[in-house]
Amino acid sequence: MLLLLLLLLTCTTLYFFHDRNVRSKASYKLPPGPSPLPIIGNLHQLGKNPHHFSAILAKIHGPIMTLKLGQLTTIVISSAEMAKIVLQNYDQFLSNRTVPEAVRVHNHHVHSIAFMPITPLWRFLRKICNNQLFANKTIGATQDLRRKKVQELLGKIHQSSQIGEATLFVAGTDTITSTLEWAMTELLSNPNTMKRAKRELEETIGKGNQVEESDIARLPYLEAILKETFRLPPSVPFLIPRKADTDVEINGYTIPKGSQLLINVYAIGRDSNVWKNDTNLFSPERFLGLETHVKGRHFELIPFGAGRRICPALSYAMKILFLMLGSLLNCFDWKLENDSKAEDIDKKQEFGISLRKAKPLRAIPIKVNN
Ligand code: HEM
Ligand SMILES: *[C@@H]1O[C@H](CO)[C@@H](O)[C@H](O)[C@H]1NC(C)=O
Ligand SMILES: *[C@@H]1O[C@H](CO)[C@@H](O)[C@H](O)[C@H]1NC(C)=O
Ligand SMILES: *[C@@H]1O[C@H](CO)[C@@H](O)[C@H](O)[C@H]1NC(C)=O
Ligand SMILES: *[C@@H]1O[C@H](CO)[C@@H](O)[C@H](O)[C@H]1NC(C)=O
Repeated sequence: MLLLLLLLLTCTTLYFFHDRNVRSKASYKLPPGPSPLPIIGNLHQLGKNPHHFSAILAKIHGPIMTLKLGQLTTIVISSAEMAKIVLQNYDQFLSNRTVPEAVRVHNHHVHSIAFMPITPLWRFLRKICNNQLFANKTIGATQDLRRKKVQELLGKIHQSSQIGEATLFVAGTDTITSTLEWAMTELLSNPNTMKRAKRELEETIGKGNQVEESDIARLPYLEAILKETFRLPPSVPFLIPRKADTDVEINGYTIPKGSQLLINVYAIGRDSNVWKNDTNLFSPERFLGLETHVKGRHFELIPFGAGRRICPALSYAMKILFLMLGSLLNCFDWKLENDSKAEDIDKKQEFGISLRKAKPLRAIPIKVNN
């Protein structure tokens, strides 16, 4: 609900500036879209899972589509090809955010830089992120810290494994936790994938050992699992909304100045022009032997966004995910609480700025001996 709320707030705030920002020009050709109701626009159609619904709408109206969210003209991008055009060629005109100050109070950890306009302060903070916080040197120097953190986590899980407690992922709102929770959910519902992942770990680093950062490059299947988890379902389904600072012409359509731009990575992850076979199937195998990476240059897989506003924590987040998921799999066997069956896992999503499972995964760890 968070993002919907966010969109709503954005709508009402921008309402007053609407006429100033989005000038009506006879030469405009807005991208196609469903006809809006007066005042609430298409908000009523979006429902609880707007990314699903807008993916369905995109099948009708195409990969660049106009929705009216309240009074706010919103352009939704739903294919890899269109995302590439928008984020590669027009990034510089689309790099401010629509989200107003008032929304920053929400407790998502990325907010302050994430919603700032492009200003000297934003540049300064990004520089700190790139050169200090998430610089290669820093990430290298803090390796011990991460090793300890993962160790602590494993210790805690070990304790609860002794009392047979379902411990994992009962809470947690951030993107890393939700990615881990989705990965574990998919693995528990796909026993063959789980087996293959555990086999790779066992053969590469030895059963029961914690994953080290130097192991990462030798774990292609684990990497494929993380990518597949990002493809289906991505943890930040609409990326973070952007705003058009000027009219931008794309394929004969106008993204008008002042409008909001959403990149529906949920739909892009299911874009059948790029993803072959059953796009709804969780199958890490589809990534094996492909060059596709998540660093913002392969637009069919952009869980961290792309361009100027790309997530500055990308490589740090990937490292943590490798260490945690790999160690969880290599140090424990997992089964579902109450001996539930894999088919019973409830994969419903709860919509927020990041997608969380509506029902937390409850899985029981069993220590493996090395
Ligand atoms: C799995 C983990 C994560 C995912 C999937 C993720 C995803 C994203 C996405 C999609 C964006 C917007 C990109 C765009 O507009 O093109 C973003 C921005 C951002 N992320 Fe992340 N993120 C993750 C973890 C983190 C972590 C751990 C931190 C900080 C410790 C972080 C800090 C930020 C910041 C500061 C921004 C705003 C950048 C800007 O607007 O200039 N992210 N992230
Ligand atoms: C973004 O917003 C800032 C501050 O309002 C403005 O100076 C800048 O020109 C805007 N656009 C871009 C593309 O930076
Ligand atoms: C940072 O490290 C990665 C490998 O860990 C390497 O591929 C990349 O080129 C490095 N970046 C810089 C700027 O040194
Ligand atoms: C698609 O599925 C078929 C059979 O299920 C398999 O042989 C093939 O390798 C798959 N292709 C890709 C790109 O995953
Ligand atoms: C397992 O059983 C307990 C007690 O009956 C219940 O509270 C819990 O919700 C069950 N968990 C799952 C995942 O069904």
